[in-house]
Amino acid sequence: MTVVRSVVLGCGAYLPERVLTNAELAAKVDTSDEWIVQRTGIRERHIAAEGEYTSHLATKAAEAALANAGVDAQSIDLIVLATSTPDHTFPATATQVQAALGIHHGVAFDLQAVCSGFVFAVATADNFLRAGSAKRALVIGAETFSRILDWNDRGTCVLFGDGAGAIVLEAQTGWGTSADRGVLTTHLRSDGAHKHKLYVDGGPSTTQTTGHLRMEGREVFKHAVGMITGVIVDAFNASGTSADNVDWFVPHQANKRIIDASAQKLHIAPQKVVMTVDRHGNTSAASIPLALATAVADGRIQKGHLVLLEAMGGGFTWGAALLRW
Ligand code: UT7
Repeated sequence: MTVVRSVVLGCGAYLPERVLTNAELAAKVDTSDEWIVQRTGIRERHIAAEGEYTSHLATKAAEAALANAGVDAQSIDLIVLATSTPDHTFPATATQVQAALGIHHGVAFDLQAVCSGFVFAVATADNFLRAGSAKRALVIGAETFSRILDWNDRGTCVLFGDGAGAIVLEAQTGWGTSADRGVLTTHLRSDGAHKHKLYVDGGPSTTQTTGHLRMEGREVFKHAVGMITGVIVDAFNASGTSADNVDWFVPHQANKRIIDASAQKLHIAPQKVVMTVDRHGNTSAASIPLALATAVADGRIQKGHLVLLEAMGGGFTWGAALLRW
């Protein structure tokens, strides 16, 4: 029996020009390059310029993804943009990307699941495409976390950065087996009981300010590996695949130690793990498509490869997606 599959046509990414190194941070707060590298694997992050907004980063990533896919912006009828750092409280940043791309048809909206945003956006777009509500989608993760950091809090300011990444998904016909190209399965979870462990202490309804990111890092770390691996096992079971079948593991890039521990627990070999956290830190919803774009550009991810995505973040939210490139 044939089914509709959301097939990746291309991907792209964008990082702002300005690079902020660990050494520069060590001159501002009580930290060191050694601590940051040892505890997180991060060496540098990119910071958006004054007047450079999330929509600008998202538009550049979207343009790169469209070029990589070889399709025209006018063929896009759905834009799902994952972000926790929108340009404005409203309208949705996705609509500003839509306008910048010159698209006046279809629908564009934002999705908010913090660091899990890209996996949630892939799942959402996949459901729209499989339901026949759209034919070709741009799925974007874009963030300017530098704007919500407390630059005096060494426990958080060294971890995050700005960036954007995007993929183009198209509804195509598949056979309903795990050999199909496209999104094979997605699994999303959330549990709001963990709010206080990772949140922003402001917002339109509470303080009428944007607020700053607050995190109990150790607490988040404690939950991360179990939640990530649990939802990945669900994805394997639902698709009839296993860790052995995975060609590339492209996790949310928050911390090298979390990524290594998750891969080890799942018995995924280190050489199958795409790791870019050293170059851009935790860019929240942008980190997975940034890593994807890197591994596609350097030739690692090829058509037909089985790619495993996962993320975990504020809420808590967490999720996994398995797709054949
Ligand atoms: O995107 C999803 C959401 N976020 C995450 O996935 C982040 C999850 N958490 C983590 O990645 C880690 O917990 C951190 C990288 C945030 C921290 O690593 P850790 O090994 O859990 O360190 P810790 O919080 O237990 O702190 C160890 C020590 C503390 O000092 P004492 O109490 O042992 O004297 C901290 O005060 O390191 C200190 N510390 C720092 N030292 C130098 C905390 N931040 C820094 C810093 N530089 N930037």
